[in-house]
Amino acid sequence: MDTDKTSVYNAFVAELKLLFPHEEIEARVRQLGAEITADYRGADPLIIGVLKGAVIFLADLIRQIDLPLEIDFIGLSSYGDGTSSCGEAIVTACPAVSLKGRHVLLVEDIIDTGYCLETLLKIIKAGEPASVKLCALLDKPGRRQVPVSADYSGFNVPDAFVVGYGLDCGQRYRNLPDIYTLGESESG
Ligand code: IMP
Ligand code: MG
Repeated sequence: MDTDKTSVYNAFVAELKLLFPHEEIEARVRQLGAEITADYRGADPLIIGVLKGAVIFLADLIRQIDLPLEIDFIGLSSYGDGTSSCGEAIVTACPAVSLKGRHVLLVEDIIDTGYCLETLLKIIKAGEPASVKLCALLDKPGRRQVPVSADYSGFNVPDAFVVGYGLDCGQRYRNLPDIYTLGESESG
């Protein structure tokens, strides 16, 4: 066990400010699942999670959707590992199934500037799905640079960097069950 890394982790976590406790996230995810269930009845949706941040949210969300559905993943990675958004991004994973004629629900952790989703929506739409909607757990509307909006949105967040429940800082802290702020935004 690397005790030095563990103490760095503990010191970082001690500085975080709680924004959404797990119970609050769970309740909101249940509501989103109920809305999606009502809207997609009879549609057999293809739920596409954006790697890696949306993995935890997607895992909880799909268990609140009472319909036959399929899941897949798409990956986009920005250069650098810190607290900046993806202005320039590379595709790291593509869905394995055909999107043609499918009702696609794209699931993302957070919409910040909107650049990532603008790119992802272009890729998804090129696959000629029957419909595309977007579900984002978190939204920072004050930071938007391109017009992207979620059809299903969990919570609005202030202009601060957030971690936990799938969201990372330098690829760490995705495993925290609650969502925390680091303080004022250092991004873009
Ligand atoms: P956008 O392209 O600026 O909308 O950035 C979206 C992506 O940046 C998200 O999918 C996250 O991976 C990352 N991101 C933006 N804001 C935060 C944050 O506050 N915490 C963690 N990741 C963030
Ligand atoms: Mg990220």
